[in-house]
Amino acid sequence: MTAQIIDGKAIAQKTCDELKTKISSLQDGAPSLAVILVGDDEASQIYVRNKKKKATEVGIDCHVIELSASIGESALLSTIDELNDNPHINGIIVQLPLPKHLDEQKIIAHISPDKDVDGFTPYNSGLLSYNNPSAFVSATPKGVLELLKSTGIDLVGKHAVVIGRSHIVGRPVAKLLLNADCTVTITHSHTVNLPEITQTADIIVSACGQPKMIKSSWLKEGVVILDVGITRVDGHLCGDVDFDDVKEKASFITPVPGGVGPMTIAMLLVNTYEAFLRAQAKGETSHCCHHKNCHCH
Ligand code: GUN
Repeated sequence: MTAQIIDGKAIAQKTCDELKTKISSLQDGAPSLAVILVGDDEASQIYVRNKKKKATEVGIDCHVIELSASIGESALLSTIDELNDNPHINGIIVQLPLPKHLDEQKIIAHISPDKDVDGFTPYNSGLLSYNNPSAFVSATPKGVLELLKSTGIDLVGKHAVVIGRSHIVGRPVAKLLLNADCTVTITHSHTVNLPEITQTADIIVSACGQPKMIKSSWLKEGVVILDVGITRVDGHLCGDVDFDDVKEKASFITPVPGGVGPMTIAMLLVNTYEAFLRAQAKGETSHCCHHKNCHCH
């Protein structure tokens, strides 16, 4: 068997093209996204630059708020308060990781759940646990599920093995797979005999950042592989899966780059559009902008 490549780049582009059409036909305003970038982490700067570029391309107003690495907790919380209260802002994200002196959980929990387009707040994470469709679902996990759906395979009853338990990918992707009726195993750095577990997988979602860790001997024939790992090795981006070794054994596989990566930004923009629609729907029913200083009513 030679694996079919899941073309994340093309699917992300199609999603963005459709979004652009929808946004250009809006009668009333355009969605807006605020991105808070704290400090000068080089990878974060690149991610944020790409988010702004793609957002602008589809017609989303993107405001990047760059803050010093030495900013205090209360100043950062005040910035989030202002954005929460600003009716012109539909989505707010805080680019992670934050500098070590800041309490990431506390900062994220301060974002209004209605504007939490990264889906990282305890509220949206809880809604996802309840399989509530109104949850904002984090961009990378949402992208992974879109790519899985694009293969046309039936997910019900499949054994999905997730490698990694991060709050950004592993945990939410496991919840999504569970919500899609997969039987889910979450593995991590303390898991004993990982290859024995992956050998029983129908679907593998790997997000552990160990370049080329997953070999053909770890796999069952026909497995579907979603590789979320992106590590720079000798100037090249490398996934968690040894692509050349496994490509004759898997049925579908995402490449790195050009697989899951491009979907992340596309899904963030979809969530921002959704946040805009929800805000607009609230405004239409109450004829009020909901700003704390508003005098509409
Ligand atoms: N850092 C790595 N991935 C992400 C993401 O999806 N959102 C944010 N805010 N930070 C990240």
